Amino acid sequence: MKKLNLEIKHDRRGSNSVKWDHKDFIDSRASDKALPLWLSDMEFKVADEIIDALSKRVDHGFFGQSMPGQKYFSSIEAWYHDRFSWNIEKDSIFYSPGVLPAIGFAINSFTKEGDGIIIQPPVFYPFAQLIEENGRKVVNNNLINDDGYYYIDFDDLEEKAKDPNSTMLLLCSPHNPVGRVWKKEELLKIIEICKKYDLTIFSDEIHCDLTRKNVRHYPLMSLGAYDKIAAAVAPSKTFNVGGLPIAQIIIDHVDLKDRWNKETYGKHFIRFAPPLDMVLCETAYSHCAYWVDEVMDYVEDNFDFIVSFLEEKLPQTKYKKPEGTFLAWINFGAYVNHKDLMDILITKYDLLIEDGIVFGQPGDGYFRLSIACQRDILEEGLNKIVQAINELQEQ
Ligand SMILES: Cc1ncc(COP(=O)(O)O)c(C=O)c1O
Repeated sequence: MKKLNLEIKHDRRGSNSVKWDHKDFIDSRASDKALPLWLSDMEFKVADEIIDALSKRVDHGFFGQSMPGQKYFSSIEAWYHDRFSWNIEKDSIFYSPGVLPAIGFAINSFTKEGDGIIIQPPVFYPFAQLIEENGRKVVNNNLINDDGYYYIDFDDLEEKAKDPNSTMLLLCSPHNPVGRVWKKEELLKIIEICKKYDLTIFSDEIHCDLTRKNVRHYPLMSLGAYDKIAAAVAPSKTFNVGGLPIAQIIIDHVDLKDRWNKETYGKHFIRFAPPLDMVLCETAYSHCAYWVDEVMDYVEDNFDFIVSFLEEKLPQTKYKKPEGTFLAWINFGAYVNHKDLMDILITKYDLLIEDGIVFGQPGDGYFRLSIACQRDILEEGLNKIVQAINELQEQ
């Protein structure tokens, strides 16, 4: 068993990193020295095996068009079988240059203009954008917030699904940003409703490998209760390679497959896949399980650290660690006005975290912190929040 040294800090400035070099992407007021606890991008260096395999492939010196081969398919099939008892057929695996582009393709191939697509805010903000910009209607099935723990409002989901204009549910499973890992019964209930009203489900499962100890993620398709589903998985979050454009879209349903091919290949000629990304997937899924397991242990400890830090310094936040993701979703409203805190953090304390409102109206009052980082970086960020709250309370 390898033991990674996850305490090592790496200077990523000057590498065109969105998180470190393009902070203005999220807040134009962010200074160069702002500590970035935003964006779901880890501060842990990628597994040696991946770096070695990519280097070897680079040394080969040829980067002509490539297509997924047997090794690529086998590595994916084995990963999902071993981790989730999910049997994926080779013919069901489609390449996409990312999950978000896949959502755009899915919207265009599985729905028509003007259709309603259901999402569950507060949710990853590009969902709403992709729906709207593709000429469909966002239908909000807001989650129920029970003191920071979130549930699906099934009555409301049924109301929304019943509308003949609603044709698709865009599910986030596990859920970004609230960190729920949906239980099997919840997923079966979702399926029951969607099946009843003939909705297609696009299940974004990019965070599936990032769960807490003893929390199990169920791939929606593995439940076998419905086949009008397309699911998205990817190595990007799991192995911290979000800048390399690759995701696997899994579709069993014959008609959905056909529509997907018409959209991706027919309209966009997406047929080939980047050669480095093939090597990345083969290596990561075949040899790097230890890496994500160790990283998730460290992330678990980071969450425990946040819980005790807040219990001691800001007990009224009543923060509980999420079931999945490496994102902390926290409300400091018991102490200060949310907007004031956001302003002072960015303009005076040089801390860049994300405002919950961008995840939809139900996210108002929350912050999202990306916490897959060295513990002292996390502690520095949390201390900045405490200082900022103290200052605001003294005003
Ligand atoms: C739920 C979810 N879907 C998709 C993405 C982005 O996927 P990609 O970079 O493959 O487009 C993210 C990134 O944070 C995410 O959290």
